[in-house]
Formats: sequence, C-alpha cells, structure tokens
Amino acid sequence: MNAKFEGWPHVVKTQQFSREWLESTLFPLADEEGRRFRMHDAGKPLVGKEMVSLFVGESLRTRARFEIAMKRGGGDVIFVSPDAKRTSSMAKGESLEDTIGILNEFGADVIVLRHDEEGGAARAAAVSEIPIINAGDGPGQHPTQAFLDLYTARKYFGKIDGLHFAMMGDLTGSRTIHSLIYLVSRYPGVRISLVSPENHRIGSNLIEHLEECRVVHRELRDIREVASEVDVFYQTRIQTNLGTQAWDRADVSQGFTIINKEVLDLAKKNAIIMHPLPCLNEIVRGEVDDDLRAVYIKTRGERISQVRCGLFITSALLRIILSQEA
Ligand code: NCD
Repeated sequence: MNAKFEGWPHVVKTQQFSREWLESTLFPLADEEGRRFRMHDAGKPLVGKEMVSLFVGESLRTRARFEIAMKRGGGDVIFVSPDAKRTSSMAKGESLEDTIGILNEFGADVIVLRHDEEGGAARAAAVSEIPIINAGDGPGQHPTQAFLDLYTARKYFGKIDGLHFAMMGDLTGSRTIHSLIYLVSRYPGVRISLVSPENHRIGSNLIEHLEECRVVHRELRDIREVASEVDVFYQTRIQTNLGTQAWDRADVSQGFTIINKEVLDLAKKNAIIMHPLPCLNEIVRGEVDDDLRAVYIKTRGERISQVRCGLFITSALLRIILSQEA
C-alpha cells in the first residue's frame, strides 16, 4: 500500500492510477466495505476525519455517495455547498482558487469537488494542501465514477481482461467515459466498441490513447452490429447540461444507440447493462429494467447494482485517502 502516484493524494484523473493499485488496494477494500454494509457492521474507520463537499453543478448519486460513505464511516461532513455557483461567493465572481484557498484555511481532511469546467479539479489541486477528489469537472473527467464502473464490471465477470465494452451515447461530452477509457485500456485483451451518432464521437486524443495502448477498438453508429459480442454495455445520456446538442433518437439515420428489447434479444445471456445515470430515454426502461442484465440501479440478491457498488468504492477510496496511503 505504499506506491505513490503523480498528484496523489489528489484524485484528478484516471491516468494517475495503475491497474495494480485498483486490483490490490482499491477493489479488495471495496469488497471489505461491501461486507461491512451487508453485516451492518458498526466499524467506523473514518472517525475523526472531516470532509468538505463543494459542488458546482448538479448531482444526486455522486454527492450522496460521498456524504453517506463519510458519515457511515464515522467521519464528519463539516461543510456542504451543493449549489456553489449560486450560493457561495463564486456567485459574486470569486475564483475557484480563492474558494479552495479559503476552505484550506479552515482545515479539513479532504475536499470533494464537482466543477462545471474541464480542468477545474486540476486547478483546485494546484492550490490545495488538502486532498481534492474530482467528482466531475465539466466534460473533463469523473475518476471515481470510473473506479466504481470498473469495480461493478469486475464483480460480474470476475475480471476485466478480455472483456468487450460497448461505450455508447455521448462520447464527446461524457466525462465518465473519458475516465473509464483510461482505466480499461490498462487491462490486456479488452476490446472497445465506441457507439455514437456522428456528432457525438469520441475525441481524437482518446483514440490516440487507445492506439498507443494497442487496445482493439472500433467506432460505429449502430449498437445492433456488435450487440451479440458485447459483455458490458455502458450507456450514457446526451450531456445537454454540459453543452452537447440534443439529437433525435427516432431518426435512425443519425445512429442507433438506444438499449431496448431488440438489443437485449441480440445480447449475450451474461452481458450486463450499465449506466452512470441519470438515465433519460437512451434505455427503454419499460423493456429493460426487469431484465436481470440491467444492473444500473437495482440490487437483486447477489447481483449488486452499479449504484451500490459506488458506495463501496467511495468508502474504500475515502479510507485510503484519509489514511494517506496508496
Ligand atoms: C454522471 C456525471 O455527472 O458525469 N453522473 C454521475 O456522476 N453519476 C453522468 C451524467 O450526468 O450523465
């Protein structure tokens, strides 16, 4: 547990993290947190630790999982600013750097930051002595979501090596996909189908990264072409709040990137359907939710949902950061 990463203990982007750290530190600790959750174990590993939660931009899951994980672990959430652009002095024009500097003066053990601009987390980390966790920075990255996404897929397949991922939807604007691509490309034999309409294609920097890592990948517009070969369907919504143009999904000439019964009928019996949420119309919920392969929201017995996996990963990450170990 002593490898140190570039930028650590800030968590800004997934390129910071190695496969070895995920497999030997984060995921085993998340398993332990899962056991603690099931046993209603009152162990309080975060006693005496303090978190600040600063959210510029909308959130339910991410903010909730950090605040709940912190409190359940016995730590304190000492300051919460859920709509910081409106309710903090950012509304008066105060810079992100000053905001972070002031919070540093009050002291805390970790600051969880969602920001509405790409690069926000890196700017905050550059001026903060307190660890910054990037909870999403505009269309940039969302590393903790990628940790939980990978952890969820690993739970279902027992490995990541050799899996075929279909990354779908808004590949231009989805920070969860941007973060996830860097992580999955660390695993040998992974294959990625990038399924989006023409005007939501993945950025060329990520294609270059996949090429450098020799990850087998292909861009396409119609999920039905590969649905029978995919292990993990990773769907995303069109990020209209981050500036992506909406498009008419009914116009299939632009692409077929929904998940519906037709796609389920083509899919493998042991495939899983994931989504970072919120989910709008890109999954036909009435046709997909009851299928066991839909793991995004609901836990069914041993089939733990992506949302719940997120809580375990968050608890594990906070334990690691707050004990200052990697
Ligand atoms: C995602 C986000 O905010 O990037 N949601 C989340 O954190 N669970 C995805 C999205 O907003 O579409």
